[in-house]
Amino acid sequence: MKTALYTTLTLAIASLAIGGCSNLERSRDLGNPQVQGKTLAMQVCSNCHSVDGNSINPNFPKLAGQQEDYLVAQLTYFRSHNRSDPEGSEYMWGIARKLTDEQIKGLATYFSQQKDAPNVTGDPALVAEGKALFENGNPKEEVAACAGCHGAQGMGNGTFPRLAGQHKDYMIKQLHILSQTDQRPAGAMMKPLVHGLTPSDMIAVTTYLQGISPQ
Ligand code: HEC
Ligand code: HEC
Repeated sequence: MKTALYTTLTLAIASLAIGGCSNLERSRDLGNPQVQGKTLAMQVCSNCHSVDGNSINPNFPKLAGQQEDYLVAQLTYFRSHNRSDPEGSEYMWGIARKLTDEQIKGLATYFSQQKDAPNVTGDPALVAEGKALFENGNPKEEVAACAGCHGAQGMGNGTFPRLAGQHKDYMIKQLHILSQTDQRPAGAMMKPLVHGLTPSDMIAVTTYLQGISPQ
């Protein structure tokens, strides 16, 4: 009798342990430090940014192939409320609130390793104009070349974000935020140079960037 009870208990505990384990692998619990970053990426972030980071809706920035250091920095800024642009705070503060440094690293590694999906290029005249601005800046307006920080093909570098393939509407929104507010302190170096961009410069440069195909 005693042995039977013992066996039942052992089985129950074993199945709990197994259940707990597979739940961790499918968990959406943003408050559980045991859940791996990759799991959260696939179970939670995917709802808006897509499972491979190639979001369709331009309200949600693409994360596929983004610089790992940049992703770590932004998630840390959302967690500490250092980045406070309206949609960043509305959507990302709650999500980042309890992430551990290790989960942030796992999320950043996962999305930085995803492949950027092929992109459709825009109007050729606009693309040419935007490419020239990106590569050379506009000395008359004291606009430094974007490529100097964001890389020759817009692939980014460390905490300088990748812009190649990013949604145009998202980038235009961020250019306004970076030029008119202090909601992204780490982007303070962008402020003076974005001031020199006209609205049509912004459209041209982001049309070029959105259409850069994966390499
Ligand atoms: C409910 C939708 C939603 C979910 C879920 C979500 N995000 Fe976001 N995320 C957004 C929005 C909207 C923005 C853009 C905010 C803005 O315009 O500043 C954003 C911005 C970001 C950025 C900044 C990108 C850049 O180019 O600067 C990163 C990084 C990010 N999210 C990572 C994540 C990760 C990692 C997860 C999962 C743990 C996640 N997001 C889950 C909606 C979401
Ligand atoms: C001196 C370096 C530097 C130059 C030059 C520069 N940027 Fe940036 N840019 C940054 C940094 C740093 C950030 C990230 C700010 C942050 O972490 O919040 C950024 C962010 C951005 C973003 C937001 C990306 C995102 O995913 O949220 C866009 C869009 C952008 N830059 C476009 C441009 C364009 C267009 C030019 C040229 C007209 C340019 N940048 C020139 C440093 C630079």
